[in-house]
Amino acid sequence: MSELIEVPPGLAGVAVASTSVGDVVGEEGFYHYRGRNAVDLARSLSFEEVAALVLDQSGAPAIAQVAVPDEIADLIPQLDLRSALSLVALRLSSGPLVDLTPAERRADAVTLISLLPTLVASCHRGELCTPTPGLGHAAGYLEMLTGTVPSPEAARALEVYLSLTIDHGFNVSTFATRVIASTGADLGACLLGGLGALLGPRHGGAPRQIADMFDAIARAGDARTWMRSQLAAGGRLPGFGHSVYRAPDPRGVLLAEVTSAIAPERFAVAQQIEQAGQEILAGRRLVTNVDFYASVVLSAVGIPRSLFAPTFAVARVVGWCAHILEQAKDRKIIRPAAYYVGPPPQR
Ligand code: ACO
Repeated sequence: MSELIEVPPGLAGVAVASTSVGDVVGEEGFYHYRGRNAVDLARSLSFEEVAALVLDQSGAPAIAQVAVPDEIADLIPQLDLRSALSLVALRLSSGPLVDLTPAERRADAVTLISLLPTLVASCHRGELCTPTPGLGHAAGYLEMLTGTVPSPEAARALEVYLSLTIDHGFNVSTFATRVIASTGADLGACLLGGLGALLGPRHGGAPRQIADMFDAIARAGDARTWMRSQLAAGGRLPGFGHSVYRAPDPRGVLLAEVTSAIAPERFAVAQQIEQAGQEILAGRRLVTNVDFYASVVLSAVGIPRSLFAPTFAVARVVGWCAHILEQAKDRKIIRPAAYYVGPPPQR
C-alpha cells in the first residue's frame, strides 16, 4: 500500500483546491467575494448584483425570469424541496458538466439559481408560485412565501441576509458540490448534494435550532440555567462556534445591526441570550456565528422556521454554482483515501 498523508480531523486547514470565488480569514473575522469585502457588498448592492459578481464576474446576470415547464408545474407543489429540485434539475439540466461548453454550464446555473425561490415557495404553499416581475429576488421570494408584498424594510433585511450568505470559502456544502462536480455529473446533481449537506443541524439547519433555543429559554425563564443543562447533557449551544472564525463572525455583526433596526424587542432578547452564552463558553473562543442573528432576522421578516435552511439555500446556490463552474474546468477527480481499521484483509 502506498503511504497515506495524514491530515487533521475534518480536513481542518487542508487546502484541497484553488479558487477565485472567495475566502474567509477566520482570525481577522473577514471574508470576501472575489477579493471584495463581502459585508460591504451586502450593505451597498442588491442581491442580483452580488450574485452576478460571485457567479463569474462576466457582467452577465446570474438571475433570469425562468418558468417551471408546464409538464411538471402540477407536480412541484406536491413535492418536498429535495424532490422538486431533483425533478427540475432532471428536466432542465442540459447534461453532464463534462459534455457541456462553459456557456451551457452557466446557462444551467442561471436556470437553477433563478428557480430555487419558486421551488421553495411552491413546495411550502402547496401551489405553484410565480415571482412578480420587477419586484426583485428577495422581495419576490418573500411575496411568494407569504402571499403579500413585503414592506421595503423586510425585503431589504432579507436581501442583506441573502447577500451575506451567498458564499463562504470552502464550507461543507460547497465542498460537497465540488466533489460531485469533479465526477462530471450534471449541475443539478451537484446542487442536490450541496442541499443535502446544508440541511444538517451543524450547518444550515442551525437557525431553526436557535429559534427553538430562544423558545426553550423563554419557557425555562433563565438563559444561563438552560444553557448549562444543555451543555451538561453533552449538547452544543446552537448559534455559537465556527470551524474557521475565532474573531466575531462579520456576517453576524451586520445581521445584529439589521435585527436592531427591524425588530428592536427581539434584538434585546437575543443580545441577552448571546451575552449569557458568551459567559458560559468563556475561554473557549466560541463566538456567535452568522446563524445566531440570522435566525432572528428570518423570523422577523415572516419566514417560517421550517424554511430557514431552504432560505439559506436560496442564497448559497449562487456560491455553489460559482464553485461548480470553477471545478468543472478541472479534469482531476476528487478522490481521497482512508486508513483501513477493520479486520485484517484476507488476500
Ligand atoms: N457549544 C458548545 N461547545 C461547542 C460548540 C457549541 N456551539 N461549538 C463547538 N464546541 C466545542 C466542540 O465540542 C469542541 O470541543 P471538544 O474539543 O471538547 O470536542 C470545541 O468546542 C472546538 O470545536 P471546533 O473545532 O471549533 O468546532 P467544529 O469545527 O468541530 O464545529 C461547528 C464547528 C459545527 C459550527 C460547531 O461550533 C457547532 O456545532 N456549533 C453549533 C451549531 C451551529 O451553530 N452551526 C452553524 C455554523 S455556521 C454555518 O454553518 C453557516
